[in-house]
Amino acid sequence: MAKTSLNVALIGQGFMGRAHSNAWGQVGKFFDLPLMPVLHTACGRDAGKLSAFQKRWHWQNIATDFKQVIRNPEIDLIDVVVPNNMHKAIVLEALKAGKPVACEKPLSNSFDDARAMVQAARKAKQRTFVWYNYRRCPAVTLAHQLVREGRIGQVRHVRASYLQDWAMDASIPLAWRFDAKTAGTGSQGDLNAHVVDTVRFVTGEEVSEICGGIVETFVKQRKLMTGTASGGLSQGLKSSGKAGKVTVDDAVMFLARMSGGAVASFEATRMAAGNQNRNGFEINGTKGAVRFNFERMNELEYFDATEERKVQGWRTIIVTHGGDHPYAAAWWPDAHVIGYEHGFTNMAYDIVLALAGKKPTAPLPDFADAFVTQRVLQAMLICAKERRWVKVAQVK
Ligand SMILES: NC(=O)c1ccc[n+]([C@@H]2O[C@H](COP(=O)([O-])OP(=O)(O)OC[C@H]3O[C@@H](n4cnc5c(N)ncnc54)[C@H](O)[C@@H]3O)[C@@H](O)[C@H]2O)c1
Repeated sequence: MAKTSLNVALIGQGFMGRAHSNAWGQVGKFFDLPLMPVLHTACGRDAGKLSAFQKRWHWQNIATDFKQVIRNPEIDLIDVVVPNNMHKAIVLEALKAGKPVACEKPLSNSFDDARAMVQAARKAKQRTFVWYNYRRCPAVTLAHQLVREGRIGQVRHVRASYLQDWAMDASIPLAWRFDAKTAGTGSQGDLNAHVVDTVRFVTGEEVSEICGGIVETFVKQRKLMTGTASGGLSQGLKSSGKAGKVTVDDAVMFLARMSGGAVASFEATRMAAGNQNRNGFEINGTKGAVRFNFERMNELEYFDATEERKVQGWRTIIVTHGGDHPYAAAWWPDAHVIGYEHGFTNMAYDIVLALAGKKPTAPLPDFADAFVTQRVLQAMLICAKERRWVKVAQVK
Protein backbone atom coordinates (compact mmCIF):
# COMPACT_ATOMS: atom_id res chain seq x y z
CA MET A 1 0.00 0.00 0.00
CA ALA A 2 1.27 3.50 -0.81
CA LYS A 3 2.67 5.40 2.17
CA THR A 4 0.37 8.08 3.51
CA SER A 5 2.40 9.40 6.44
CA LEU A 6 5.79 11.07 6.89
CA ASN A 7 7.46 10.29 10.21
CA VAL A 8 9.56 13.27 11.23
CA ALA A 9 12.43 13.27 13.74
CA LEU A 10 13.45 16.64 15.11
CA ILE A 11 17.00 17.02 16.41
CA GLY A 12 17.14 20.05 18.72
CA GLN A 13 14.56 21.69 20.98
CA GLY A 14 15.36 25.39 21.12
CA PHE A 15 13.98 28.38 19.21
CA MET A 16 13.84 26.56 15.89
CA GLY A 17 12.74 23.39 17.63
CA ARG A 18 9.57 25.25 18.60
CA ALA A 19 9.12 26.85 15.16
CA HIS A 20 9.49 23.50 13.36
CA SER A 21 7.33 21.56 15.84
CA ASN A 22 4.61 24.11 15.23
CA ALA A 23 5.02 23.83 11.45
CA TRP A 24 4.89 20.02 11.36
CA GLY A 25 1.89 20.06 13.71
CA GLN A 26 -0.03 22.72 11.77
CA VAL A 27 0.69 21.93 8.14
CA GLY A 28 -1.78 19.07 7.77
CA LYS A 29 -4.53 21.11 9.41
CA PHE A 30 -4.37 23.87 6.80
CA PHE A 31 -3.00 22.32 3.60
CA ASP A 32 -4.20 19.31 1.62
CA LEU A 33 -1.20 16.99 1.71
CA PRO A 34 -0.16 13.89 -0.21
CA LEU A 35 1.65 12.66 2.95
CA MET A 36 0.66 13.50 6.53
CA PRO A 37 3.58 14.51 8.78
CA VAL A 38 3.71 12.66 12.08
CA LEU A 39 5.64 14.23 14.97
CA HIS A 40 7.39 10.94 15.65
CA THR A 41 10.49 11.71 17.76
CA ALA A 42 12.03 14.81 19.29
CA CYS A 43 15.70 14.50 20.20
CA GLY A 44 17.63 16.81 22.54
CA ARG A 45 20.40 16.72 25.10
CA ASP A 46 18.42 17.73 28.17
CA ALA A 47 16.02 14.90 29.07
CA GLY A 48 14.15 17.02 31.63
CA LYS A 49 13.41 19.86 29.23
CA LEU A 50 12.69 17.34 26.48
CA SER A 51 9.86 15.77 28.39
CA ALA A 52 8.13 19.17 28.84
CA PHE A 53 8.82 19.91 25.15
CA GLN A 54 7.19 16.59 24.15
CA LYS A 55 4.03 17.36 26.12
CA ARG A 56 3.71 20.89 24.78
CA TRP A 57 4.24 20.01 21.10
CA HIS A 58 2.77 16.50 21.10
CA TRP A 59 5.80 14.55 19.94
CA GLN A 60 5.09 10.80 20.15
CA ASN A 61 8.57 9.88 21.41
CA ILE A 62 11.67 11.53 22.85
CA ALA A 63 15.33 10.51 22.74
CA THR A 64 18.73 11.91 23.66
CA ASP A 65 20.92 10.02 21.15
CA PHE A 66 20.55 11.36 17.62
CA LYS A 67 22.35 8.37 16.08
CA GLN A 68 19.79 5.99 17.51
CA VAL A 69 16.96 8.18 16.26
CA ILE A 70 18.41 8.29 12.75
CA ARG A 71 18.81 4.49 12.71
CA ASN A 72 15.15 3.96 13.61
CA PRO A 73 13.59 2.48 10.42
CA GLU A 74 10.27 4.17 11.22
CA ILE A 75 11.77 7.65 10.69
CA ASP A 76 11.33 9.13 7.19
CA LEU A 77 12.80 12.64 7.55
CA ILE A 78 15.50 14.10 9.80
CA ASP A 79 14.95 17.73 10.72
CA VAL A 80 18.10 19.41 12.08
CA VAL A 81 17.63 22.39 14.41
CA VAL A 82 20.80 22.48 16.49
CA PRO A 83 23.62 25.09 16.50
CA ASN A 84 25.63 25.38 13.28
CA ASN A 85 28.69 23.34 14.34
CA MET A 86 26.45 20.31 14.95
CA HIS A 87 24.78 20.27 11.53
CA LYS A 88 27.45 18.29 9.71
CA ALA A 89 27.68 15.32 12.11
CA ILE A 90 23.91 14.82 12.16
CA VAL A 91 23.45 15.38 8.43
CA LEU A 92 26.23 12.94 7.46
CA GLU A 93 24.76 10.30 9.76
CA ALA A 94 21.30 10.81 8.25
CA LEU A 95 22.56 10.65 4.68
CA LYS A 96 24.58 7.53 5.49
CA ALA A 97 21.35 5.97 6.76
CA GLY A 98 19.67 6.86 3.45
CA LYS A 99 17.27 9.45 4.89
CA PRO A 100 16.25 12.82 3.48
CA VAL A 101 17.28 15.79 5.61
CA ALA A 102 15.86 19.23 6.29
CA CYS A 103 18.62 21.29 7.91
CA GLU A 104 18.54 24.76 9.43
CA LYS A 105 20.59 27.52 7.87
CA PRO A 106 23.40 28.37 7.44
CA LEU A 107 24.42 24.99 6.08
CA SER A 108 27.35 24.89 8.49
CA ASN A 109 29.63 26.96 10.71
CA SER A 110 32.48 26.33 8.22
CA PHE A 111 32.79 26.45 4.46
CA ASP A 112 34.74 23.17 4.38
CA ASP A 113 32.04 21.37 6.37
CA ALA A 114 29.34 22.83 4.12
CA ARG A 115 31.20 21.43 1.09
CA ALA A 116 31.46 18.00 2.76
CA MET A 117 27.71 18.09 3.39
CA VAL A 118 26.88 18.86 -0.25
CA GLN A 119 29.20 16.13 -1.45
CA ALA A 120 27.64 13.63 0.95
CA ALA A 121 24.14 14.57 -0.24
CA ARG A 122 25.18 14.15 -3.87
CA LYS A 123 26.70 10.73 -3.12
CA ALA A 124 23.70 9.58 -1.09
CA LYS A 125 21.27 10.80 -3.79
CA GLN A 126 18.90 11.95 -1.04
CA ARG A 127 16.54 14.89 -1.00
CA THR A 128 17.89 17.74 1.10
CA PHE A 129 16.26 21.01 2.21
CA VAL A 130 17.63 24.06 3.99
CA TRP A 131 15.28 26.20 6.06
CA TYR A 132 15.59 29.51 4.26
CA ASN A 133 12.08 30.14 5.52
CA TYR A 134 11.81 33.77 4.38
CA ARG A 135 11.37 32.49 0.81
CA ARG A 136 8.04 31.18 2.10
CA CYS A 137 6.70 34.54 3.27
CA PRO A 138 3.92 34.99 0.72
CA ALA A 139 5.15 38.53 -0.08
CA VAL A 140 8.64 37.25 -0.88
CA THR A 141 7.26 34.40 -2.99
CA LEU A 142 5.09 36.94 -4.80
CA ALA A 143 8.14 39.15 -5.43
CA HIS A 144 9.86 36.08 -6.92
CA GLN A 145 6.83 35.54 -9.18
CA LEU A 146 6.57 39.19 -10.27
CA VAL A 147 10.23 39.32 -11.19
CA ARG A 148 9.82 36.05 -13.18
CA GLU A 149 6.84 37.58 -15.00
CA GLY A 150 9.06 40.47 -16.09
CA ARG A 151 7.04 43.05 -14.15
CA ILE A 152 10.12 45.00 -13.04
CA GLY A 153 12.08 44.30 -16.22
CA GLN A 154 15.84 43.85 -16.07
CA VAL A 155 17.16 44.12 -12.52
CA ARG A 156 19.58 47.03 -12.02
CA HIS A 157 19.81 47.69 -8.29
CA VAL A 158 19.55 45.39 -5.31
CA ARG A 159 19.54 46.80 -1.77
CA ALA A 160 19.27 44.06 0.83
CA SER A 161 19.64 44.31 4.57
CA TYR A 162 18.76 42.34 7.66
CA LEU A 163 18.79 44.54 10.74
CA GLN A 164 18.18 43.47 14.32
CA ASP A 165 19.05 45.20 17.60
CA TRP A 166 18.82 42.57 20.37
CA ALA A 167 22.60 42.13 20.71
CA MET A 168 23.10 45.83 21.61
CA ASP A 169 22.44 44.78 25.18
CA ALA A 170 25.98 44.07 26.40
CA SER A 171 24.62 42.15 29.39
CA ILE A 172 23.40 39.33 27.12
CA PRO A 173 25.81 36.49 27.88
CA LEU A 174 28.21 34.72 25.57
CA ALA A 175 25.68 32.30 24.02
CA TRP A 176 26.69 30.08 21.10
CA ARG A 177 25.69 32.82 18.64
CA PHE A 178 28.72 34.87 19.84
CA ASP A 179 31.19 31.99 19.60
CA ALA A 180 32.99 31.32 16.30
CA LYS A 181 33.63 27.66 17.20
CA THR A 182 29.90 27.01 17.31
CA ALA A 183 28.30 29.62 15.07
CA GLY A 184 31.19 30.20 12.61
CA THR A 185 30.20 33.83 12.17
CA GLY A 186 27.76 36.27 13.79
CA SER A 187 25.32 38.42 11.85
CA GLN A 188 26.95 37.01 8.69
CA GLY A 189 25.66 33.43 9.00
CA ASP A 190 22.71 34.36 11.16
CA LEU A 191 21.21 37.18 9.06
CA ASN A 192 23.27 37.92 5.94
CA ALA A 193 22.79 34.28 4.90
CA HIS A 194 19.04 34.93 4.76
CA VAL A 195 19.25 38.08 2.63
CA VAL A 196 21.77 36.57 0.22
CA ASP A 197 19.42 33.61 -0.22
CA THR A 198 16.39 35.87 -0.60
CA VAL A 199 18.05 38.04 -3.24
CA ARG A 200 19.14 34.96 -5.21
CA PHE A 201 15.59 33.62 -4.95
CA VAL A 202 13.79 36.82 -5.92
CA THR A 203 16.11 38.00 -8.72
CA GLY A 204 17.12 34.59 -10.07
CA GLU A 205 20.63 36.02 -10.33
CA GLU A 206 23.84 35.01 -8.57
CA VAL A 207 26.22 37.23 -6.66
CA SER A 208 29.22 37.10 -8.99
CA GLU A 209 31.79 39.53 -7.58
CA ILE A 210 32.23 41.22 -4.22
CA CYS A 211 34.04 44.30 -2.93
CA GLY A 212 33.93 46.58 0.10
CA GLY A 213 33.46 43.81 2.63
CA ILE A 214 33.45 45.08 6.23
CA VAL A 215 33.22 42.97 9.37
CA GLU A 216 32.94 44.59 12.82
CA THR A 217 32.55 43.43 16.41
CA PHE A 218 31.37 46.24 18.70
CA VAL A 219 30.90 44.37 21.99
CA LYS A 220 34.14 42.44 22.34
CA GLN A 221 33.50 40.64 25.63
CA ARG A 222 30.45 39.15 27.30
CA LYS A 223 29.83 37.28 30.52
CA LEU A 224 30.09 33.50 30.15
CA MET A 225 26.76 31.72 29.93
CA THR A 226 25.46 29.21 32.44
CA GLY A 227 22.85 26.60 31.49
CA THR A 228 21.44 26.11 28.01
CA ALA A 229 19.41 28.15 25.55
CA SER A 230 15.75 28.57 26.28
CA GLY A 231 14.07 28.79 22.91
CA GLY A 232 14.53 32.42 21.84
CA LEU A 233 17.46 34.56 20.70
CA SER A 234 18.43 35.97 24.07
CA GLN A 235 15.50 35.34 26.41
CA GLY A 236 16.23 33.63 29.70
CA LEU A 237 19.99 33.30 29.17
CA LYS A 238 21.90 33.34 32.45
CA SER A 239 25.51 34.37 32.96
CA SER A 240 28.29 33.70 35.45
CA GLY A 241 30.65 36.36 36.83
CA LYS A 242 33.48 35.65 34.38
CA ALA A 243 33.83 37.32 30.97
CA GLY A 244 34.86 35.71 27.68
CA LYS A 245 35.83 36.98 24.24
CA VAL A 246 33.20 37.48 21.50
CA THR A 247 34.73 35.78 18.45
CA VAL A 248 32.13 36.63 15.78
CA ASP A 249 30.98 39.80 14.03
CA ASP A 250 28.19 42.05 15.22
CA ALA A 251 27.83 43.72 11.81
CA VAL A 252 28.82 42.97 8.21
CA MET A 253 28.33 44.66 4.85
CA PHE A 254 29.51 44.35 1.27
CA LEU A 255 28.92 45.56 -2.28
CA ALA A 256 28.47 43.21 -5.21
CA ARG A 257 27.91 42.72 -8.90
CA MET A 258 25.14 40.29 -9.84
CA SER A 259 25.37 37.78 -12.71
CA GLY A 260 22.71 39.63 -14.73
CA GLY A 261 24.53 42.97 -14.53
CA ALA A 262 22.83 44.52 -11.48
CA VAL A 263 24.77 46.22 -8.70
CA ALA A 264 23.97 45.28 -5.12
CA SER A 265 24.57 46.12 -1.48
CA PHE A 266 24.12 43.76 1.46
CA GLU A 267 24.13 44.62 5.15
CA ALA A 268 23.45 42.60 8.29
CA THR A 269 23.70 43.56 11.92
CA ARG A 270 22.34 42.63 15.31
CA MET A 271 23.03 46.14 16.60
CA ALA A 272 20.87 48.51 14.55
CA ALA A 273 18.88 50.34 17.23
CA GLY A 274 15.16 50.44 16.52
CA ASN A 275 15.22 47.54 14.06
CA GLN A 276 13.98 44.40 15.71
CA ASN A 277 13.67 42.10 12.71
CA ARG A 278 13.92 44.34 9.66
CA ASN A 279 14.74 41.77 7.01
CA GLY A 280 14.18 43.46 3.70
CA PHE A 281 15.10 44.37 0.17
CA GLU A 282 14.41 46.88 -2.56
CA ILE A 283 14.98 45.66 -6.09
CA ASN A 284 14.79 48.19 -8.93
CA GLY A 285 14.50 47.14 -12.56
CA THR A 286 14.03 48.79 -15.94
CA LYS A 287 10.22 48.60 -15.65
CA GLY A 288 9.55 48.86 -11.92
CA ALA A 289 10.56 47.80 -8.46
CA VAL A 290 9.61 45.61 -5.51
CA ARG A 291 10.23 46.36 -1.84
CA PHE A 292 9.79 44.20 1.28
CA ASN A 293 10.29 44.62 5.01
CA PHE A 294 9.60 41.58 7.21
CA GLU A 295 8.33 43.76 10.05
CA ARG A 296 5.32 44.28 7.74
CA MET A 297 5.46 40.78 6.35
CA ASN A 298 1.95 40.65 4.90
CA GLU A 299 2.75 43.47 2.49
CA LEU A 300 4.73 43.64 -0.73
CA GLU A 301 5.36 47.07 -2.20
CA TYR A 302 5.39 47.27 -5.99
CA PHE A 303 6.17 50.19 -8.25
CA ASP A 304 5.12 50.02 -11.91
CA ALA A 305 7.30 52.39 -13.93
CA THR A 306 5.36 51.64 -17.14
CA GLU A 307 2.29 53.51 -15.87
CA GLU A 308 1.67 57.14 -16.81
CA ARG A 309 3.91 59.35 -14.71
CA LYS A 310 0.93 61.24 -13.32
CA VAL A 311 -0.41 58.13 -11.55
CA GLN A 312 2.87 56.42 -10.72
CA GLY A 313 3.57 55.58 -7.11
CA TRP A 314 4.42 52.69 -4.78
CA ARG A 315 1.44 50.44 -4.19
CA THR A 316 1.11 48.24 -1.12
CA ILE A 317 -0.22 44.78 -1.88
CA ILE A 318 -1.63 42.89 1.09
CA VAL A 319 -0.57 39.39 0.12
CA THR A 320 -3.52 37.47 1.55
CA HIS A 321 -5.86 36.84 -1.37
CA GLY A 322 -6.55 33.14 -1.74
CA GLY A 323 -7.04 33.10 -5.48
CA ASP A 324 -3.97 35.14 -6.33
CA HIS A 325 -1.34 35.06 -3.64
CA PRO A 326 0.99 32.18 -2.80
CA TYR A 327 -0.08 30.00 0.16
CA ALA A 328 -2.98 32.37 0.97
CA ALA A 329 -5.73 29.91 0.01
CA ALA A 330 -4.66 27.66 2.90
CA TRP A 331 -4.97 30.38 5.52
CA TRP A 332 -7.61 33.03 6.22
CA PRO A 333 -9.93 35.42 4.35
CA ASP A 334 -8.49 38.61 2.78
CA ALA A 335 -6.32 40.71 5.10
CA HIS A 336 -6.75 38.31 8.01
CA VAL A 337 -3.00 38.43 8.26
CA ILE A 338 -0.45 35.74 9.02
CA GLY A 339 2.80 35.80 11.06
CA TYR A 340 6.37 34.54 11.46
CA GLU A 341 5.44 30.92 12.08
CA HIS A 342 3.47 30.63 8.85
CA GLY A 343 6.65 30.86 6.77
CA PHE A 344 7.83 27.63 8.39
CA THR A 345 4.46 25.94 7.90
CA ASN A 346 4.42 27.01 4.23
CA MET A 347 7.90 25.53 3.89
CA ALA A 348 6.83 22.30 5.60
CA TYR A 349 4.03 22.11 2.99
CA ASP A 350 6.50 22.45 0.12
CA ILE A 351 8.88 19.90 1.67
CA VAL A 352 6.02 17.39 1.90
CA LEU A 353 5.10 18.08 -1.75
CA ALA A 354 8.71 17.58 -2.84
CA LEU A 355 9.04 14.32 -0.89
CA ALA A 356 5.82 13.08 -2.49
CA GLY A 357 7.28 13.84 -5.93
CA LYS A 358 5.09 16.89 -6.51
CA LYS A 359 6.07 20.42 -7.52
CA PRO A 360 6.53 22.87 -4.63
CA THR A 361 4.99 26.37 -4.76
CA ALA A 362 8.39 27.89 -5.57
CA PRO A 363 11.96 26.53 -5.72
CA LEU A 364 13.07 24.96 -2.44
CA PRO A 365 16.65 25.50 -1.30
CA ASP A 366 18.59 22.22 -1.15
CA PHE A 367 22.18 21.70 0.04
CA ALA A 368 23.65 22.60 -3.36
CA ASP A 369 21.65 25.81 -3.38
CA ALA A 370 22.56 26.70 0.24
CA PHE A 371 26.20 26.00 -0.58
CA VAL A 372 26.07 28.72 -3.25
CA THR A 373 24.89 31.14 -0.54
CA GLN A 374 27.61 29.93 1.80
CA ARG A 375 30.18 30.51 -0.95
CA VAL A 376 29.02 34.13 -1.26
CA LEU A 377 29.47 34.56 2.51
CA GLN A 378 32.92 32.99 2.29
CA ALA A 379 33.89 35.29 -0.61
CA MET A 380 32.76 38.25 1.46
CA LEU A 381 34.96 37.20 4.40
CA ILE A 382 37.96 36.89 2.06
CA CYS A 383 37.13 40.30 0.60
CA ALA A 384 36.96 41.89 4.07
CA LYS A 385 40.17 40.23 5.26
CA GLU A 386 42.26 40.90 2.15
CA ARG A 387 40.58 44.22 1.24
CA ARG A 388 40.12 43.33 -2.45
CA TRP A 389 37.55 42.35 -5.11
CA VAL A 390 36.72 38.63 -4.95
CA LYS A 391 35.09 36.59 -7.74
CA VAL A 392 32.66 34.24 -6.02
CA ALA A 393 33.15 31.37 -8.50
CA GLN A 394 36.87 31.30 -7.66
CA VAL A 395 36.17 30.49 -4.01
CA LYS A 396 36.58 26.72 -3.85
N1 LIG B 1 15.54 29.92 9.76
C1 LIG B 1 15.65 30.88 10.67
O1 LIG B 1 15.12 31.96 10.53
C2 LIG B 1 16.46 30.61 11.90
C3 LIG B 1 16.24 31.37 13.07
C4 LIG B 1 16.99 31.05 14.21
C5 LIG B 1 17.94 30.04 14.16
N2 LIG B 1 18.14 29.36 13.00
C6 LIG B 1 19.12 28.27 12.95
O2 LIG B 1 18.59 27.15 13.66
C7 LIG B 1 19.64 26.43 14.31
C8 LIG B 1 19.30 26.33 15.79
O3 LIG B 1 19.16 27.64 16.32
P1 LIG B 1 18.20 27.95 17.55
O4 LIG B 1 17.94 29.39 17.52
O5 LIG B 1 17.07 27.00 17.56
O6 LIG B 1 19.18 27.62 18.73
P2 LIG B 1 18.81 27.37 20.26
O7 LIG B 1 20.06 27.67 21.01
O8 LIG B 1 17.54 28.03 20.65
O9 LIG B 1 18.53 25.79 20.31
C9 LIG B 1 19.50 24.83 19.95
C10 LIG B 1 19.06 23.49 20.48
O10 LIG B 1 19.97 22.50 20.06
C11 LIG B 1 20.19 21.62 21.16
N3 LIG B 1 21.42 20.85 20.92
C12 LIG B 1 22.69 21.29 20.86
N4 LIG B 1 23.52 20.25 20.60
C13 LIG B 1 22.73 19.15 20.48
C14 LIG B 1 22.98 17.75 20.21
N5 LIG B 1 24.22 17.30 20.06
N6 LIG B 1 21.92 16.90 20.12
C15 LIG B 1 20.67 17.34 20.30
N7 LIG B 1 20.38 18.65 20.58
C16 LIG B 1 21.39 19.52 20.68
C17 LIG B 1 20.20 22.54 22.34
O11 LIG B 1 20.02 21.87 23.57
C18 LIG B 1 19.00 23.43 22.00
O12 LIG B 1 17.79 22.82 22.37
C19 LIG B 1 20.93 27.19 14.01
O13 LIG B 1 21.56 26.58 12.93
C20 LIG B 1 20.45 28.58 13.62
O14 LIG B 1 21.32 29.25 12.73
C21 LIG B 1 17.42 29.63 11.90
